[in-house]
Amino acid sequence: MGEGGCSRRNFMQLIGVGVGMVGATLMAPPLRRPLLAHSPEQVLAADDMVMIKLTVNGSSRTATVEPRWSLLYVLREIFGLTGSKIGCDRGECGACTVLLDGVPHYSCLTLAVEAQDRAITTVEGLLDGEQLGPVQTAFALEDGFQCGYCTPGQIMAVEGLLRRNPSPSAAEIRQGCSGNLCRCGAYKNIFAAADKAARLKKT
Ligand code: FES
Ligand code: FES
Repeated sequence: MGEGGCSRRNFMQLIGVGVGMVGATLMAPPLRRPLLAHSPEQVLAADDMVMIKLTVNGSSRTATVEPRWSLLYVLREIFGLTGSKIGCDRGECGACTVLLDGVPHYSCLTLAVEAQDRAITTVEGLLDGEQLGPVQTAFALEDGFQCGYCTPGQIMAVEGLLRRNPSPSAAEIRQGCSGNLCRCGAYKNIFAAADKAARLKKT
């Protein structure tokens, strides 16, 4: 093809670059900067920070936070509970799911100050001492994951489901997990893990 034209090979190369760029954009982790001050002028004065008390996995914890900090940020960056994952950071994927008073919530959309007076349960809180809890065990037995990044959120969604419905049907399991995306597409095994978890919780 002449100058200015586009051969099939060039076209395919361009498509490849384009797809690669889109893929890289989609896979890029969300910036953490929006949760923090953008410039020195935006740093809050100490007087504008607030002391909060949170109940996390049965323990009372205190933290001094900016009112705009998400619960996810405080759990991970202040308390070091990194089981809850940052996926989209905007309420779309469920990787950050925790329980508030036993009900699944996206911790990226929950302000830390809002979570006071609530019982917060993270995936770390499902351990039975040093042993995995029943839902965690079920995911391990059923290979309910591939890369594992969504898994803590999936486990918390299943835990929340089984607390309100100990014997869910297949349709109810799908409904209960519908707020949690799995980029690897491991849904078949995730649903099998939820079903096994229901049985393990009864033993
Ligand atoms: S990180 Fe919270 S929903 Fe995706
Ligand atoms: S196991 Fe990889 S995103 Fe779900």
